[in-house]
Amino acid sequence: AVEDNKNIFWQQTDVTREVRAEQKGQKPLTLWFTGLSGSGKSTLANEVEKRLVSLGYHTMLLDGDNVRLGLNKDLGFEEAGRIENIRRIAEVAKLMNDAGLITLTSFISPFEQERRKAQQIVGDAYIEIYVSTPLEVCEKRDVKGLYQKARAQEIADFTGISSPYEEPEKPHITIDTSDISLEDAADYIVKEVLKIGGK
Ligand code: PPS
Repeated sequence: AVEDNKNIFWQQTDVTREVRAEQKGQKPLTLWFTGLSGSGKSTLANEVEKRLVSLGYHTMLLDGDNVRLGLNKDLGFEEAGRIENIRRIAEVAKLMNDAGLITLTSFISPFEQERRKAQQIVGDAYIEIYVSTPLEVCEKRDVKGLYQKARAQEIADFTGISSPYEEPEKPHITIDTSDISLEDAADYIVKEVLKIGGK
């Protein structure tokens, strides 16, 4: 592993993160959505990104299913796979921030300790958005039919059923999508995000 490698040195580049961000006229942020499968993370992240883009921000969205089909296709859903998944996402989010972008990440990210590590990697740009829709509601929606499969024990380690989800201790923003329209939920998140990091 690279931690053992004493022969790698950080290279300072002439065009810095600050320069890239300044050219885009924005402060890089990572909007870290966390919540159960079916809680509404991806739908919300997608809608929030659309709004930020129409306000003139430069963004990038990293979504659970998509990243697991590509960059992280070697990882499973056992604890070690999820830990490595989140570590890589955090590193990619940081690179996107270095490019001057507002990054939105939409992963279950079920472990508090891994979210804290992600925050350490990303630094001050990190904004945690807890999509707190309760398990009963997510299971009732069962958009992908995965809860049904998990209950039938056809999927192992399913979050909320046979694998834990640790509630965030101090999220910056919390939103339960049980009884709110997508429009209102996205309005609320964008307003809160811009309060924290708008240009
Ligand atoms: S994690 O825990 O952060 O590493 O998970 P993530 O990368 O976000 O992947 C979650 C999506 O993968 C599908 N899926 C599962 N989720 C949870 N547990 C198990 N065992 C599982 N197997 C497949 C599921 O579609 C998740 O998508 P979302 O968008 O969260 O519903």
